[in-house]
Amino acid sequence: MSSQFRAIVVDEYSGEDGAADAAGPRRRGMLRTLDEDFFSADGDDARPLPRPATGVSIEVGYSSINYKDGLAVAGRPGIVRRLPLIAGIDVVGTVSASGDPRWAPGDTVVLNGAGLGESRHGGLSEHTVVDGTSLLRLPSAISQRRAAALGTAGFTAMLAMMALERQGIGPRSGEILVTGAAGGVGSVAVMLLARAGYSVTAASGRAATEGDYLRALGATTVIDRAELLEPGKPLQSTRWAGAVDSLGGTSLATVLAQISYGGSVASCGLAAGAELPSTVLPFILRGVNLLGVNSVDAPVALREAAWLRLAAEAQLALLDELSTEIGLSAVPETAEAILAGTVRGRTIVNVRA
Ligand SMILES: NC(=O)c1ccc[n+]([C@@H]2O[C@H](COP(=O)([O-])OP(=O)(O)OC[C@H]3O[C@@H](n4cnc5c(N)ncnc54)[C@H](OP(=O)(O)O)[C@@H]3O)[C@@H](O)[C@H]2O)c1
Repeated sequence: MSSQFRAIVVDEYSGEDGAADAAGPRRRGMLRTLDEDFFSADGDDARPLPRPATGVSIEVGYSSINYKDGLAVAGRPGIVRRLPLIAGIDVVGTVSASGDPRWAPGDTVVLNGAGLGESRHGGLSEHTVVDGTSLLRLPSAISQRRAAALGTAGFTAMLAMMALERQGIGPRSGEILVTGAAGGVGSVAVMLLARAGYSVTAASGRAATEGDYLRALGATTVIDRAELLEPGKPLQSTRWAGAVDSLGGTSLATVLAQISYGGSVASCGLAAGAELPSTVLPFILRGVNLLGVNSVDAPVALREAAWLRLAAEAQLALLDELSTEIGLSAVPETAEAILAGTVRGRTIVNVRA
């Protein structure tokens, strides 16, 4: 008889506990108790999932809540592509068994994206099975808990900083703008950029309440995001050498219009919208670069480089300041909160709490 474990499983549920519901079944993530046989079923997708015999079995220490996890657990469309599925795009833990020769019991590992919580079982579980291909050994300088505090958000923030650097941007280039600054990607981006010596302006819808928090992370200036949300001219007075943008939409169009000659914007997210109501003018008249950041499909070499830099450059005490810890049972309510934009910084999930 296999041992049981708890997990947040996204599926179509009726009523609070699976009881009949007049409104019909609704997709969402619920805390369930599973056994190992769960990993033997493929759900409603023909593509095979990693199995305990061939994949890497992980005793999970921590996961986290990212915006995408909020969407998945709240049952919003477009994230989870097979049912039932264990949610969680981040996993940090210890290998318990491996059918992949690259990994052995006792290895401490981290994995962000790579289909977790979307098309493959994820990390919001006491136990999971993943494909070993994109798995990373956790650098010894980072604890499992702090690796989850960084999570996809921190990994993405580092990828964004590295993307700006590849365009020649450095601390002496000028002011760097971070949008969605009080959120996960934004908070870590402010912390990393400030630590690296950049002068950072944080744009937030919560500038009044989170200004002290953002300055503690290293922002030199905090502005209200409303400044960026008004549609404006395609070329405006230049304010920024570069930017890390989590918002998209009109805000990203405004940022592009305010970037200095030859500057760059790392586009990470769409918290304000997927559209980009801009023109080519910033690109052809100011040589502005719009840089795409995709953490999900990042190749292993880039993952390793980013995590080594996170281990060396993240300010661990500040990381603790920007993180809140919850247990698995609090995941559904936190999913709603992150979609409502009321979560500050990062939420770590201690899957055994
Ligand atoms: N490209 C990738 O690989 C990648 C990886 C991770 C995340 N993402 C994306 O990046 C974005 C941020 O993710 P996250 O995990 O950091 O989410 P998060 O913690 O919820 O942060 C998003 C922040 O954006 C701001 N915001 C939220 N709703 C808004 C709205 N309607 N209009 C304007 N600003 C709004 C809020 O910041 P303030 O309160 O400070 O204004 C919020 O804290 C999401 O779109 C996510 O899907 C992409």
